[in-house]
Amino acid sequence: MVAILGYSREQIVAAVQAMYTAVADMPDSPFHFPVGGGTSQRLGYPPAQTDTVPPSLLASFAGVGYPFRAGAIQPGDRVLDLGAGAGVDSLIASRLVGPDGRVFALDLTAAMTRKLKEMAVEQGIGNLGVIQASAERLPLPDASVDSITSNGALNLVPDKRRAIAELFRVLRPGGRLQLADVVIHRPVSVDCHEDPRLWVECVVGATVKEDLLALFAEAGFENIEVVGRHDYFAMSPSAQTREIAASFGAHTIELGMRRAAEPPSPLSRWRHRLDPRRAWRRLKRRGLLGVAALVLALVSCYGTLTLVALLPLLGIGLAVNDGAWATIIAAFVLLTLGVLAAGFRRHRATGPPLLAAAGAATVLYALFVDYHALVELAGFVLLTAAALWDLRQRRHQEARLLGLNQLAKKGA
Ligand SMILES: C[S@@+](CC[C@H](N)C(=O)[O-])C[C@H]1O[C@@H](n2cnc3c(N)ncnc32)[C@H](O)[C@@H]1O
Repeated sequence: MVAILGYSREQIVAAVQAMYTAVADMPDSPFHFPVGGGTSQRLGYPPAQTDTVPPSLLASFAGVGYPFRAGAIQPGDRVLDLGAGAGVDSLIASRLVGPDGRVFALDLTAAMTRKLKEMAVEQGIGNLGVIQASAERLPLPDASVDSITSNGALNLVPDKRRAIAELFRVLRPGGRLQLADVVIHRPVSVDCHEDPRLWVECVVGATVKEDLLALFAEAGFENIEVVGRHDYFAMSPSAQTREIAASFGAHTIELGMRRAAEPPSPLSRWRHRLDPRRAWRRLKRRGLLGVAALVLALVSCYGTLTLVALLPLLGIGLAVNDGAWATIIAAFVLLTLGVLAAGFRRHRATGPPLLAAAGAATVLYALFVDYHALVELAGFVLLTAAALWDLRQRRHQEARLLGLNQLAKKGA
């Protein structure tokens, strides 16, 4: 999938690997997200669990929560640690499962897997296997693990639906999954969403919380429970990252769930996907006011005219009361103006509301002072242009906030 700024999926994956190579090899460098043992303590790891982790691995800890709060791992389990990084959680899991269990620490970044492998050999940890692979294609057989843990990785995976389907495939029926990850309140627009530089900082690759839970439910997970929440980005040393995270409502959650005995039927999967309540929530999050303004402008312009034209075709003879029509159209126009004026609060651009005011005044003039069809049409064209401008400004405001200068300049 190539994004509109020209970034490819491969570039995003390469940026993720470059960032986490730095976390593995130079953990003391400044990062925009919290790294190291201090972070693990603040996220709720009991010191007793991390005290025995070698300091060099703990220094590269980049988890976003404490997934063990969900308690998925039992003695004797075969466990997959997805996106294991330097392996702090893998080592904790290896102690929890004991000598009869086994942990597969899987990560995309070679520097991370190398670091963990060397340490596992040095410490003689016999029940830990390290795998370099992608979450989107797990090199493990079906139903081959009893539990899965993951901390901060899923938000970095481009195809989350596929990765979650892979988790379902490798987990045995009834097996448990614990996960800590970043979620957001409102989605990031496509152009920002595809920028590799922003992706690696864990905000823009994240999914809206309800959508993430729905992805797991659709894939066949049940008893999905949110067991913890953190204002993770408040710990970021970067003021810009804190601001971006706050603007998208980015925070982390800890989840526990179980794999259903059977995969979901295609019917139930589609029922989940087509649930109108989900579509409505998604629309609202994408900026309901901007979309509503555009729809209103179009409905008031073409909808009314189309309705009038269609009525005779339907055999309905309507004695049109000019005053009533004019009032209905005027109400739509004023509503559109109100919605566009509200957009100012978000993007602070005066252009769209001013253009909308000019459009509304033109329509009202044509309706109530001196009617000319072309003048009325010109007013509606101005209103539609204002609605499109408003939508564009909303996206550019987001781009500016995220520091995407290329886009911001175009929108200036
Ligand atoms: C935020 S770090 C967390 C690492 C580790 N879980 C921890 O708690 O320290 C995310 C890790 O996910 C890995 N990762 C990113 N995309 C991945 C993918 N598609 N498949 C597997 N691992 C991935 C990164 O290499 C990185 O080590």
